Amino acid sequence: MKKVLFIDGCFRKEQSRTARLSRAFFSALKGYEAERIDLDALPISPLGRKEMEERNVLTAAEEYGHTMFDIAKQFAASDMVVIAAPFWDMGIPAKLKTYFEHVSVSGIAFDGETCEGKCRAERMIFLTTRGLEIEEGSEQEQATPYLKALCRFFGIGEFMSVSAFGLDVIPPEKCESRLRRAEEEAISLAKSLEANE
Ligand SMILES: Cc1cc2nc3c(=O)[nH]c(=O)nc-3n(C[C@H](O)[C@H](O)[C@H](O)COP(=O)(O)O)c2cc1C
Repeated sequence: MKKVLFIDGCFRKEQSRTARLSRAFFSALKGYEAERIDLDALPISPLGRKEMEERNVLTAAEEYGHTMFDIAKQFAASDMVVIAAPFWDMGIPAKLKTYFEHVSVSGIAFDGETCEGKCRAERMIFLTTRGLEIEEGSEQEQATPYLKALCRFFGIGEFMSVSAFGLDVIPPEKCESRLRRAEEEAISLAKSLEANE
């Protein structure tokens, strides 16, 4: 069965509106075995000099047995990647950025010589909600361009997203209807992806 890696960055858990989109998506996804990463609980820190140097020594020697590479190996071996995370400070939450620092390993996520992507996933799906009236394509929306660039770098062919926005500045009824519409979009997307294995 194909494997989907679910990177769950819905830090507000039950209160999270983004989590509603991921629940809708996974309720309709068939034919995939899901592995979930709870970003909030993941014990990772941003890379500093010491960590970089330690990692560089190992990648230069092509020694990938250390547990520091587990995150990158898991990501690179997935058939699909689904990220659910709220829009923070015009982009993605820092913990998600930190996660990608741990994924982006030469020799695992990309080829150190050619810089070609080595990840197996055919697509990345990004589920998100935004507080302000910021649409995808706006220069204020820096999460999508960043994730698209990562897909290209890692060799992931397709990027798709479902979002609801304006949720902190519109009346509650409108907020609910936007969320419902996004849930329906997430369900349609999941149904369209049914794995045939
Ligand atoms: C730390 C933080 C930073 C945020 N930054 C932005 C922002 O830059 N732009 C925006 O539109 N909303 C911003 N918001 C609002 C969230 O995007 C919005 O409330 C979202 O729906 C939260 O998702 P959740 O319910 O899944 O936690 C921010 C919220 C928090 C807590």
